[in-house]
Amino acid sequence: MQHTNVKSKCPYSSEAVDDISLLSPAARACPYGAYARIRAEEPIKYLADQDLWIVSKYEDVEYILSNPEKFSSKEALSSGNAYRDFPKALEILKQSRAQPRQRTLILADPPEHGFHRKIVQRALSPAKTLRAFAPTIEARVNGFIDKFIETGRFEVVSQFSIPLPMALVSMIFDVSEEQVYKMKRWSDNFFAALTGHVHEEIVINAAKDTLVFENFVLDRVAQCRKTPSDCFIGRLLQQPEDERPLTDAEIINICSQVLVGGNESTINFISNLVYQIASTIGLEERLREDPARIEDLLEESLRHEPPLQAMYRITRSEMEIGGVRIPKAAKLMLNFGSANRDETFYEDGDEFDLDRDNRETLHMAFGRGIHACAGQTIARREGKIAINVLLSRLRNLRIADDIPPVRNKLFGVRGFQSLHVIFDH
Ligand code: HEM
Repeated sequence: MQHTNVKSKCPYSSEAVDDISLLSPAARACPYGAYARIRAEEPIKYLADQDLWIVSKYEDVEYILSNPEKFSSKEALSSGNAYRDFPKALEILKQSRAQPRQRTLILADPPEHGFHRKIVQRALSPAKTLRAFAPTIEARVNGFIDKFIETGRFEVVSQFSIPLPMALVSMIFDVSEEQVYKMKRWSDNFFAALTGHVHEEIVINAAKDTLVFENFVLDRVAQCRKTPSDCFIGRLLQQPEDERPLTDAEIINICSQVLVGGNESTINFISNLVYQIASTIGLEERLREDPARIEDLLEESLRHEPPLQAMYRITRSEMEIGGVRIPKAAKLMLNFGSANRDETFYEDGDEFDLDRDNRETLHMAFGRGIHACAGQTIARREGKIAINVLLSRLRNLRIADDIPPVRNKLFGVRGFQSLHVIFDH
């Protein structure tokens, strides 16, 4: 009997719950043991050194995501703060043409959030986007594989996971391949600054790239105003008469979120999928026998290893959650990685189980409620195409034993810095 149920090799944390740090090297390598201990002993846990409350149980995370009137997204991400800590970066940002800066989508609360969300939903139009782009994405994935197929091995992150979402981003923004790699650098720097705990140099680079990115977006806006276009930015400009037009600052903020959202999480999602296949005995054969199971692979991987491990909210008033009193203006870390393994909802949650029915309890990998991922249909389709094409071209995928996989250093993004895989063909 082939087995495709695999427990994460992630020991139950032996530290006392008070000593657990999610930023330690051990937790970065594998946080699930620490999460299990927090869920069992102190499901809503205050970390004094970061002035942060970890919310670890499924139902508490779901409650917070579903009640945006009680929990704000607006101040929750640390981007503003990261810049605020570095006067040189602030000085650079003063040259921005998009003043005053505007917060949209993930950085906004109702009612502003709803206004932008509707426009983005329309402009991103997953069905239209995928109808137009799916064949090209498939051709591009075949092109990535052509480059390494003769060597019998590949480094998944750089040769497969990064180029794929970049191909999609190039189509969404209608830019050349050359331009798209510049966009990847912008996206990396924005993301690093967003996650906080960063060096001055990174924040300064992010500030400089912010100006370059703004110029790029505003040039596209000018082109699309002159010659109407059906690219994403062109669609942002096509508004019904009863809607006010977006300001330049709003367009810039939306585009930066689609750029980062479209990139970072998808890269890690794809690497996690390949890792799962290459490290799980019998999984590749099962997917090959019944390709319809690729959809189960995607959902179980998103549950088991959510690429975004957490998001943040701020309490709007003092309140009680899960029996714990939390003050007004407290910062909450909604831990998707933990919620997705909560034993109340998932039997043997540490197991990757292709047969798990993920429709019964929907995982949190794409969030929930008004901020639920605007690109989830696109991300799922990218994953499906990637794995379909990979399995049609390569056989017997396994982790290379001469170069071990290296996990991401950043807490919060579950995936790999490098992942070497060998195969037959
Ligand atoms: C596997 C890949 C992806 C994962 C795991 C992911 C995860 C998430 C999560 C958890 C949120 C909710 C954040 C919150 O509640 O605060 C979110 C929001 C968002 N995502 Fe994704 N995402 C992925 C791919 C994408 C793609 C491909 C795009 C665009 C093409 C995208 C665009 C966005 C946007 C614009 C938002 C903000 C939505 C709002 O606030 O209304 N994401 N994503």
